[in-house]
Amino acid sequence: VTPQDLAGLKVLVTAGPTREPLDPVRYLSNRSSGKMGYALAKVASLRGATVTLVSGPTALTPPPGVETISVTTAEQMFQEVIQQSAKAQLIIKAAAVADYRPLVTNEQKIKKQGQGLSLELTQNPDILAQLGQRKGRQQLLVGFAAETNDLEQNALSKLKRKNLDLLVANDVTQPGAGFDHDTNIVRIFDQSGEVKALPRLSKEQVAWEILNLARELFQARGI
Ligand code: PMT
Repeated sequence: VTPQDLAGLKVLVTAGPTREPLDPVRYLSNRSSGKMGYALAKVASLRGATVTLVSGPTALTPPPGVETISVTTAEQMFQEVIQQSAKAQLIIKAAAVADYRPLVTNEQKIKKQGQGLSLELTQNPDILAQLGQRKGRQQLLVGFAAETNDLEQNALSKLKRKNLDLLVANDVTQPGAGFDHDTNIVRIFDQSGEVKALPRLSKEQVAWEILNLARELFQARGI
């Protein structure tokens, strides 16, 4: 039997990629499958938490018992997450949100034209940074960092800059880690430095470990 050690906890998880439309048939996106976020939502729910999942487009079936809200763009994810965040005690942002979107979305399909075509992009809102600014005293905020180089330095800088309690960093160039794999290899940091370096584990096992650390933090803070 699964321990109900997260009973009563309200958890908000984000998962998957976002899609930023160029025209009615094309978009900019990334290789996130949603597996990491869905594993977190599933395991939190199995352990008794009340879970809301805000998901970008994926091919996955929502975990049973989890309220799942589907979004497409970063802007839509931003609106939903901010709305859902007020009631959440634990927020985990596994989604791979596009940092930029096309400045203009063409109403008609872009025609082939000349040799080259330049796209102008504009920045999307940083959802995690906004959550960090609004974080309540009873709230824990967990971010992810998908890195290809200087993992530790980038992870610690994201953790501080975005006011996070935990940061889960994956080196997405390692075999069996990151985008679309069933497994992940992560290093987890808190404000004082590295707290855990995990071997290659299934994404559900990684989810267990992240939730264990979040639970310990709640206990340490008497929440
Ligand atoms: O979905 P899978 O195929 O299972 O793959 C899992 C994963 C590789 C997507 C996942 O483990 C992961 O690393 N997710 C974060 C990917 C990412 O966008 O990393 P980042 O370093 O660019 O962003 C850092 C953090 O800021 C993330 O928590 C992200 O959700 C958040 N962010 C980023 C940009 C933005 N505009 N808003 C955000 O909230």
